[in-house]
Amino acid sequence: MTVRVTRRYRFSASHRLHSDQLNDQQNDRTYGKCNNPHGHGHNYVLEVTVAGPVDSQTGLAVDGAALDQLVYQEIIRRYDHRNLNEELPEYRDTGLVPTTENVLACVEDRLQRAWHPGWPKLARVRLLETNNNTFERQLT
Ligand code: NI
Repeated sequence: MTVRVTRRYRFSASHRLHSDQLNDQQNDRTYGKCNNPHGHGHNYVLEVTVAGPVDSQTGLAVDGAALDQLVYQEIIRRYDHRNLNEELPEYRDTGLVPTTENVLACVEDRLQRAWHPGWPKLARVRLLETNNNTFERQLT
């Protein structure tokens, strides 16, 4: 029997939505106030869901402490209290716009790269940008 376990993490970060591939008018039309030159911040909530069998000896499907450590090292420590456009190379050096869609893709990529081979699968990543906005990548 597979159990899906979700753990929740928080980080605060600022960003500006602006694409080098669009002119100023198109940026304004596309991103509205999120294109404001000085940026704005969010208190993000990241949910990481793992799916795996329950270990018969421990009764656990996931080692929560180990997962916390990995998410903290790979994501929270890097993202918390950062300006995403200026401080994180995945956006700064590539021109990738730090929309929540793109942040979520980068988060998933980092988690997958660092994932321990013996762990249950990463099943879903979900990012809450505001109380009204949720973005998710369903992996299994
Ligand atoms: Ni925003």
